[in-house]
Amino acid sequence: MKKMTQLIYSGMMFLSVAACSADPGETGSSAASAQPQPSFAGKKVLVAYYSYSGNTQAVARQIAQATGGDLFAIETVQTYPERYNDLTAQAKREINAGFMPELKAQVPQMETYDVVFIGSPNWWGTYAPAVKTFLSQYDFGGKKLVPFFTHGGGGMQRCESDMKAQLPQAQFLPAAAFPGRTSGADPQKLQSWLEKLLP
Ligand SMILES: Cc1cc2nc3c(=O)[nH]c(=O)nc-3n(C[C@H](O)[C@H](O)[C@H](O)COP(=O)(O)O)c2cc1C
Repeated sequence: MKKMTQLIYSGMMFLSVAACSADPGETGSSAASAQPQPSFAGKKVLVAYYSYSGNTQAVARQIAQATGGDLFAIETVQTYPERYNDLTAQAKREINAGFMPELKAQVPQMETYDVVFIGSPNWWGTYAPAVKTFLSQYDFGGKKLVPFFTHGGGGMQRCESDMKAQLPQAQFLPAAAFPGRTSGADPQKLQSWLEKLLP
């Protein structure tokens, strides 16, 4: 099965759009708005995500809009290669080595959030190394962690279970995996997942 997955992914089946970085203005918090903000059961929500080519970012934005959460783009100091084969090869090496790349910035006032959505693309069946670094940098005690992923056809694979294994003490709510599209997740699927998370 692992061999088959590797074959599929080295075949560039899920070649997605060219690399793009998140809006710099997005890092840290969402833009101020005069509109009344939606609330997630009165909880303070952070939507942190890593996105190489924009798909996970699109879902993160939808979640932030639906929950009134602040957005935080996880970005690495060293950028990944643009050539697809180089990218997949580097990603594989890093994942196999458990490598945690250095990140550009930290979440301001992480202690103020009750619920932290944490988004990643599915890379080689698990979450991206940048998210591994992110999860290693904070104390998530007393918070609810809500993982979400985008994928190129493999679905959740080990993304959720590997994340739980990294943080065995953390409280997780059920994760969701969405097919990766630059237009984001199917709104109905997203909404019904979010509703199930509420107490
Ligand atoms: C290095 C790499 C490895 C990937 N491995 C998988 C995989 O194992 N299973 C899968 O379904 N999709 C895989 N994909 C596809 C991505 O999960 C999918 O395109 C995702 O939506 C990209 O999110 P992003 O645009 O936020 O970076 C991989 C993509 C890359 C770049």
